[in-house]
Amino acid sequence: MIRGLLFDLDGVLVNTNPLHYQAWKELAEELGIPFTPKDHEAFLGVSRAQCLELLLQKGNQSFSPQEKARLCGRKNDRYRELIGGLTPAALLPGVPEFLKAARAEGYRIGLGSVSKNAGFILEKLKITAFFDAVIDGTGILSGKPDPEVFLKGAQALGLLPEQCVVFEDSAAGIEAAHRGGMKAVGIGTPQRLPAAELTIPGFAGLTPAVLLSKLV
Ligand code: G6P
Ligand code: MG
Repeated sequence: MIRGLLFDLDGVLVNTNPLHYQAWKELAEELGIPFTPKDHEAFLGVSRAQCLELLLQKGNQSFSPQEKARLCGRKNDRYRELIGGLTPAALLPGVPEFLKAARAEGYRIGLGSVSKNAGFILEKLKITAFFDAVIDGTGILSGKPDPEVFLKGAQALGLLPEQCVVFEDSAAGIEAAHRGGMKAVGIGTPQRLPAAELTIPGFAGLTPAVLLSKLV
């Protein structure tokens, strides 16, 4: 029986993916590397350092570890500028209602995000109090598709992996859920996330009870 819900953050609860894209795009331009929204698909759910590796691979460029740290810092400074103005209005449609319903229905709620900015964003969105556990990029060693973030999430909720469902917008995140022994609900289209057990366009009009009845 499902007792815990583990949510990814970027692209699931809030539409920050375009802001990540913009910050990477600006860095890519400085480096003279072509970068499109299609290229950014592969960055979803992937750690900042790993995203930089993907970008540098694309541009066939190499840097020292110190220079890479500086480039990651520049990307993050720009991203922090972009997310600085987030308010609860940035929550994706139906998210607050879904989280409220999840609490009312007695589910334990966890965040499983690779982002090191997750805590800051939850505060900006004023949804920190919904979460019984927050596992983010500051508490893990491996990004998705490694299952670490979700396994730690289940553990922090006091549940077994098979008692949890993951909500994810990235292919890497769906793979992480599966490698952790959890089912995954994809936020997006079945074409983009064919491995998810169920795909929904978003949370509007849904409750956990109704949604999970479709998962079995
Ligand atoms: C999420 C996003 C990724 C991002 C990662 C790290 O998983 O989907 O695109 O690279 O978080 O985010 P951060 O905020 O730590 O740079
Ligand atoms: Mg995401």
